[in-house]
Amino acid sequence: MNQNRVSQEIESLREQIRHHDWRYYVLNQPEISDTEYDRLMERLRDLEEKHPELITEDSPTRRVSGAPLSGFSVIAHETPMLSLANTYSREELGEFDQRVKKGLSGERYEYVVELKFDGVAVSLVYESGSFVQGSTRGDGFHGDDITANLKTIRSIPIRLISSQQSAIPKRMEVRGEVFIDRRSFDRINRERQNAEEEPFANPRNAAAGSLKLLDPAQVAQRPLDIFLYACLASEGIPATHIETLDLLSRLGFKVNPNRMLCQGIDQVIEYCDLWEDRRKDLPYDIDGMVIKVNDFGQQARLGATSKNPRWAISYKFPARQATTKLLDISLQVGRTGAITPVAILEPVELSGTTVSRATLHNADEILRKDIRVGDRVIIEKGGEIIPKVVQPVISVRTGNEIEFRMPGECPVCGGGVIRLPGEAAYRCISVNCPAQVERVIQHFASRDAMDIEGLGPALIKQLLSEGLIKDYAGIYALNEKRGQLLQLERMAEKSVQNLLDGIEKSKGRPLGAFIFALGIRHVGRVAAETLARRFGCIEALSVADDEELEKIPEIGPVMAESIRAFFKSERTRSVLSKLLDHRVGRCEGKGVESAAGEGLKRKSFVFTGSMLAFTRTEAQDIVRRAGGQVMTTVGKKTDYVVAGDDPGSKLAKAQKLGITILNEEEFLQMIEPFITEIHLH
Ligand code: IVH
Repeated sequence: MNQNRVSQEIESLREQIRHHDWRYYVLNQPEISDTEYDRLMERLRDLEEKHPELITEDSPTRRVSGAPLSGFSVIAHETPMLSLANTYSREELGEFDQRVKKGLSGERYEYVVELKFDGVAVSLVYESGSFVQGSTRGDGFHGDDITANLKTIRSIPIRLISSQQSAIPKRMEVRGEVFIDRRSFDRINRERQNAEEEPFANPRNAAAGSLKLLDPAQVAQRPLDIFLYACLASEGIPATHIETLDLLSRLGFKVNPNRMLCQGIDQVIEYCDLWEDRRKDLPYDIDGMVIKVNDFGQQARLGATSKNPRWAISYKFPARQATTKLLDISLQVGRTGAITPVAILEPVELSGTTVSRATLHNADEILRKDIRVGDRVIIEKGGEIIPKVVQPVISVRTGNEIEFRMPGECPVCGGGVIRLPGEAAYRCISVNCPAQVERVIQHFASRDAMDIEGLGPALIKQLLSEGLIKDYAGIYALNEKRGQLLQLERMAEKSVQNLLDGIEKSKGRPLGAFIFALGIRHVGRVAAETLARRFGCIEALSVADDEELEKIPEIGPVMAESIRAFFKSERTRSVLSKLLDHRVGRCEGKGVESAAGEGLKRKSFVFTGSMLAFTRTEAQDIVRRAGGQVMTTVGKKTDYVVAGDDPGSKLAKAQKLGITILNEEEFLQMIEPFITEIHLH
C-alpha cells in the first residue's frame, strides 16, 4: 500500500473508532459488537505499528500512553475555577432569587437547573478540536496537570465530532465532574476487599483517588466517567447556558440529559423536589442541584465574589443521617490478618433499614474524628450500602466515654500486631490465628471461589471448633467423616448429603475460581482468571518465577511477589498437595477447561439474563460457530446454562436439574479460544 492510502485508512479507522466510542461511552447506544470494535482497533494498531511516523497524539490507540509520572506539574487556570455557595432550604433559594432580581434591576431572567454530581471537578482544554490539556480544580487558581489520566476516560473525546468542525471554537475550555457510578464502585470495592486492600469510603473518594494515580495504565483500569456542565470560550459559543449545553452535546461531550429551563424560583424549587425523590433511581450519586442564570450577559453583570459566582448556587439535599449510641467498637480479623474496627450501634432506623453496625474505616480515622465508645454519633448512608460513622456529638458527652486504643495483640489469638509502612491497617502476624483460618476457609467456599453450597460461615465455625477440619483441604476429607457430621447440631442425613454433594461438585470449578479460592493476597477474581488462562494449571503457576509473572501485563510486581511467596510457603505446599490428592485443582477433569479443549462440539447451551460483553445473539453465534448447540429451554440434556444479569426462571430450573451454571466470566473463559479463531476467518 502506498503511504497515502495507508494514511487515509488510518484516518478513516480513527474516525470510525471515535464514532463508536461516542455511541458506546457517551450515548450508551452502541451500533456494533465489541468484537467488531476490537477488529477496528486491532487494524489501527497494526497499521500504526508498521507506520509509526503516522501516529498522532489524538489517535484512539494513545488513550493510555506514557510512562508513570513521578508527580504532576502545576498549571494555572486561565479563568479561576470557583465553587458554588450552598443553600439547604427553599427560604435560602428564595433569598438567592431576590439577590439575582436586584442585581439585574428588574430585567427578565431564566434559570437552568441541573444535577449536582458528587465527583471531582476537572477542566479540559481543546485546541482546534483536539484535547490538549486537562487539570484538577486544585485551589481554584492552580491545579494539577492530569492530562494523561483524563485521556484514559473513554467518555472524554480526544477529538471533537468533525461534522461540527465549523462550530468548534479555536480554543475552548470545558468543565465537568469526573465520577464513578454506584455499580462500578461496588465492584471495585468488592475486588479491593477480596484482595484485603482498603475499600474506598464512597464513589467520590474512589474517583479522586483514581485521578491522583501517577500511572495512566492504572487509571485506565478504573471505571471513571464524566459529565460536562460548562464551557468557556472567547468566541463561537451561544449566548445562553442551555444552548451551550446543547452545543457541547453535539460536539460529542457527555452532558447529563436531566436539566430544565425554569421561569421563576417556584419552578426551580419544584424541579429540585422532584429530584430529591428521584435521585435514588440514578445509577450515580448526586448531592444536590445546581441553579444557574441562563443568559451569559446577565451572568457577567452579576459577577462573582472572590469565591463564588453570584449567578449560580447549589441546593444541597438533606443527608440521610441519624444519631445513635456507639455501644462498642469490635475488632474483626480478616483473611490476611487485617484488623478492622467496626462500630456496634444501638439499632436505629435510617432511610428504610435498621442499622446496628457501621464502618469506622481504620484506627487513624477513629482517632482523627475522636470517636469514643459510649458517644452519641452521627451515622450516614451515602452512595454506599454500609453506613458510616460521620462524627461524635461532642456537646452531649458525659465524661464516661472511653477512648479507643488499638490493642498491641490480636483480639482473637493474642498474637503480635504490626503495621506495615504505607498501610492504614494493623495486621495480626500469626498464621495460625483462628480468625484468619476461619476467614480463609469462608473465602475458599464462597460463591465466586469454590462455590460450595451448604458450607456457610456458621458451619465452617462448627467444623473448626469440632476439629473436623483444620484448613480448606480438610473439606475434601469430610466424606470420610459422615458419622461425625451427623452428630453436629442441625445436621441431618439430608443436609449432610447436600453438603457432601456440594463439596464433590466444587471439584469441577474452573481453574480461575480455584486460584481465586486459594486466597493469595492481592489476587482478586479477575487476576485469578488471567493467571488461569496464562498457566493452564496450578502446578505451572506454582513454579512460575517473578520474571514470568511480571511479563503478564495485568500482574504488577506486588502481585507477582505475593504469588511467589504464597507458593513458596511450606504451609501452602502441604495444603496444595492434599488438595491435589483429592483431585481438586488438577488440570484434567475440570468441566470448563476440558470443554474448551475439545471444542464445543455437541455441547448444548441455554442463555438467560443479559451479559455485559455480548448481546444474546452474538453469544449464541459464537457457540454455534464453535460447534456447540443453542437451545431455548432447559432440559436434562442441557450441558450449560449461561446466566447473565437478572436471569429468569431458567436458572432455577437448571439449579434443580443440577446443570452446570456459568456466569459471564466463566462463559468468556470457555469461549475465548474460539473468539480468536473466529477472528481469523
Ligand atoms: S457549575 C462557578 N454545575 O460543584 C461554578 N458545578 O461547589 C461552576 N458540580 O466545583 C460549577 N455538578 O465540582 C456546576 N452541574 C454542575 C455541577 C457542579 C457538580 C460541582 C463542581 C464544583 C462544585 C461547586
